[in-house]
This record gives sequence, structure tokens and C-alpha cells, in this order.
Amino acid sequence: MDRGELAGKTIVLGLTGGIACYKSAELTRLLIKAGAAVQVVMTDAATQFITPLTMQALSGRPVFTSQWDSRIDNNMAHIDLSREADAILIAPASTDFLAKLAHGMADDLLCTLCVARDCPLLVAPAMNRQMWANPATQRNAATLRGDGVTLLGPDSGDQACGEVGDGRMLEPEALCEAMISFFQPKRLAGRRVLITAGPTFEPIDPVRGLTNLSSGKMGFALARAAAQAGADVHLVAGPTSLATPWGVTRSNVQTARQMYDAVMADAARNDIFIAVAAVADWRVRDVAREKIKKTGETDVPTLEFVQNPDILAAVARLPKPPYCVGFAAESGDLEKHGAQKRARKQIPLLVGNLGPATFGQDDNEVILFDDAGQKRLPRADKHALARSLIIEIAARLPSRAPR
Ligand code: C5P
Repeated sequence: MDRGELAGKTIVLGLTGGIACYKSAELTRLLIKAGAAVQVVMTDAATQFITPLTMQALSGRPVFTSQWDSRIDNNMAHIDLSREADAILIAPASTDFLAKLAHGMADDLLCTLCVARDCPLLVAPAMNRQMWANPATQRNAATLRGDGVTLLGPDSGDQACGEVGDGRMLEPEALCEAMISFFQPKRLAGRRVLITAGPTFEPIDPVRGLTNLSSGKMGFALARAAAQAGADVHLVAGPTSLATPWGVTRSNVQTARQMYDAVMADAARNDIFIAVAAVADWRVRDVAREKIKKTGETDVPTLEFVQNPDILAAVARLPKPPYCVGFAAESGDLEKHGAQKRARKQIPLLVGNLGPATFGQDDNEVILFDDAGQKRLPRADKHALARSLIIEIAARLPSRAPR
């Protein structure tokens, strides 16, 4: 999270009355860690749940709570605070505050500055499930959406009141991700992207198997970058403990054949397919039902292998394939092998990297191979690189043909 992805952004973080205020302390830390400047503004009700002192200490800036605050030179906190902001985020946004926003009310500092704003407004509702489901609240939420306000959540689950349902505020990590995403250009808006990532695991017997050193980090970073670029992303992941990126739909698979099935069931309706997974080339022909026992001092089992399907090649052969991007992890002579692999797989774009230098690492260096030749992208953090790759892919997309 400390990749500076909000560097240069100023966010007015508005807190309204709700028990979820305690999460806003963590949210402030995360936003600041991501590089943002955070100006906290609280309603009176919010100060019942968390003190301005805590929020000041975490944000490193004085907190504003009153429209009569004289600390701003021209005494117009409601104007000045939003003028320096790139966005206003209200988290938590109470039932009452949503109602006020929907009606353009201006009877305290926070709602006045929302009315007076000249920057985007995002709200993270937080309330009891019945309050959220109440037709008046739903009407207000719809009005706000219609007014161009972005609603983040609410989430579903356990509530502070002991009930379970829709209305929880999104977790701080999700809200921070949503803010990072909000500021990204939407180069893939309206596009569907299918991505494979991670290793596969091919069983030998119930307790053993063959896998490889792929961590999944590059594929997950690409899924995140594609979602941030506005795409509808489906990530088919081999075994990895990585968290699902914000806004991404994930299917977990273990073997190459399961990955093949998951991909082929979805591929045709996608605009882009990015095959990042390190798919096992072979699987064991007959997987033992019981654990293979060591029978003697020198005995070793003989394993017979069969080839796995080539997922990328199969997608590329579809009658109307999505724009296919392959990855090649080589151990040397990338320039030669990359170009050859692209030709063999018959795909428009191949991203080459050196396997041993990237597997499990947080950064990577790649060469792009396409019809025009080669292009090197310098070594960078996998998230920064993923963003560059999404820009490269978006620029190469054929204009939208009817699917
Ligand atoms: O042939 P090779 O495994 O080196 O090709 C790598 C590229 O092909 C990667 O994009 C990888 O995800 C994809 N691939 C695949 N199915 C396989 C093997 C590789 O989709 N069985």
C-alpha cells in the first residue's frame, strides 16, 4: 500500500455520526501511507464516536468541525476546504447525512462544503440494515447516484447492533483501494478482461503434486490495474494466498485442466485475455488414489506424464478471439525466444520476462513483442508495470467490433 499511488492528491475526509467512525482512523492512515494529504472534517455527531484529536494526530492537520471556525483567514472554511481538494470522501456517511446531501442541505460545515464543492464527491454509507433498506434512504441513494455522487458500498455482514445484513461501511483497505481506483483514467471502461494468474498444481497422489515458483503477483497486479482502468475483470487464479484485488471477480482453480475449463467457459465474451499464469506443461497420467509409499531403500516410483492443454493457444484459436496477450518466462535470450513464442502462439502481443528474475519478486522488467517489433519497459514495481502494460494493451485494442 505504500506505493505512493495517491501522491499529490488532497482528500477531504468527512466523518458523520456512526460507530464505523473507528474505521476512519485506519482509513486516514492508509490514505496518508498511499501519499495523499488528508483534511478531516467532522460533524458534531461524529465527534461523539471518535475525537478530533485522534483524527488530527493521524492526519497531521487540524480538524474542522464548525462552519464558524475562524482559523481560515477569510472565514469561509466551507469554500476553501473543498477548493484545495481533489475529492471529498464521506466515510462513514450516516442515514441522516445521505438525506441531507440528497436535498442539498447546508446547515453544518460538512454538508455546506459538499454543496459548495468543485470536486468529485464519494460517500461510504454506514448504517443498520433496516435504515439502509428504508425506502427513503434508497430514494436518497438513488438521487445521489443520479447527481453524480459515487457510492462506495455499503458492505454486507455483521453489524454493530448485532444484526446481519447490508449497511456495513466498507473496510478501510477497500475504501483506500476505491480511492486509488477512482483517480485512474478509465481506458478500459466497458471492456471485459479475463486474466489467468499464479501457478497450477498437478497432483501426483492425495498429498503430493507438481507446481512452480510463480507467485501470482504479476497477474494479480494486472487484474487490479485493469479493474482500476474501468474494466470488468475475471481473474482465474491458481493456488496462491494473494488477496483478491478490489472490484475483481475471482475463480480459484488448482490444475491446468481446471484453469482451461474456467477460461474456456468465459473467454468468448471477453474483449481481452491476458494469460499470465505459469501453467504446468505436463500432468501425471495416473494420479494415485492413495499416498505412494516408499517400499524399499532404493525403490523410486516411475511417473508417466501427459501434456496439458495450452489455454492461451486454445483461446487464440476461438472463432472470434478476445485480444490475446501472452507472457513468456524465459531463462535467457529473451529477444529471440519471445519473438518465436509470439509467432508460435499466434497472438498479437507477448510480454517477455526472465523467469528466475521475476518469480516471487515485487518488481519486474519486460519486453513487449508485437507486429511492430520489440519495446522494452524498464524495471518497475509490478503494480506500476501493470499500469504501463494496461496502457500498452488499451492502445493496441482494435476498435470495438460487435461481439
Ligand atoms: O509455452 P509457454 O508455457 O512458455 O507459454 C507461456 C504463455 O502461455 C503464458 O502466457 C501462459 O499463461 C500461457 N500458457 C497457457 N497454457 C499452457 C501453457 C502456457 O495458457 N498450458
